[in-house]
Amino acid sequence: MIACHDRYPNLRVFEHPLLQHKLSKLRQRDTPSRQFRRLLNEIAALMTYEISADLPTETYEVETPLERCEGTRMSGPVTIVPILRAGIGMTDGILSVLSEARTGHIGVYRNEETLQPVSYYFKMPPEVASGPVLLIDPMVATGGSASFAITELKERGCVGKIKMVCLVAAPPGIERLLEDHPDVPVYTAALDRQLNDVGYILPGLGDAGDRIFGTH
Ligand code: PRP
Ligand code: URA
Repeated sequence: MIACHDRYPNLRVFEHPLLQHKLSKLRQRDTPSRQFRRLLNEIAALMTYEISADLPTETYEVETPLERCEGTRMSGPVTIVPILRAGIGMTDGILSVLSEARTGHIGVYRNEETLQPVSYYFKMPPEVASGPVLLIDPMVATGGSASFAITELKERGCVGKIKMVCLVAAPPGIERLLEDHPDVPVYTAALDRQLNDVGYILPGLGDAGDRIFGTH
C-alpha cells in the first residue's frame, strides 16, 4: 500500500496499517532507545520489501536436488547508503531483507544555526554506479542533507539509480528534493505538517540520531 502524492510527484507514502502502528509508537516521547531502534529496523524491513519490487533481475540456471530449473537473481549489486548517523538506525532492517546488498556511508550533519549540511565522511563500495542505490535517512526536514548526498552520489555516476528511503518527511524537504533531484523517488512512512523555527519536523519524533543512540 504505497500512495503517490497529488502535490509531489517524487513522493511515495506508505499507508500500511502495520507500518503506521509502529511509526506511532516511535513518535511517542517515552519510547526508550532500545525499542526505538527495534521499531525503526522493523519499519525499514517492511518498506524495503515494497521498494525492492522493481529492482532489476536476471534469470540463471539452478540445480535442485532433482533437476535443473530457471532461477531469478538481482542483476547488478544493490548498494545501501545510510547518511550518518541516523541512517545507521535503518540498515540492519534493510539488510535483513536485502542480505546481499553492499553498504556505503555518507557522513553529513546539519549546522544547528544555518541548517546547512556539513560533510565529514564519504566511502562507497567499488563501482557503486553499477547497480541500484538506496539512500537511507529517517528524517528529511529541509532536505539539505539528502540533496547533498544525492549530488555526491550522482557525481560518482549514480544518475537514474537512486531511491531515497526515509521515515518522516516535511514539505520543505520534499519540495527541495523535487527541485534539485526530480528523478529521485522519495519513499516515506509519513509526510508531516511543517518545520518549527529551528528546523525540526512537526509533529515529527524529535532528533532521530539522539533517540537511536541515546545522546540527548
Ligand atoms: C538529521 C537527520 C538528517 C538531517 C535532516 O541529522 O538524520 O540527516 O538531520 O535534516 P535536513 O533535511 O534539514 O538536512 P543530524 O544533522 O541531526 O545529524 P546526526 O544524524 O549526526 O544526529
Ligand atoms: N533531524 C531530526 O533528527 N529530526 C528532525 O525533526 C529534523 C531533522
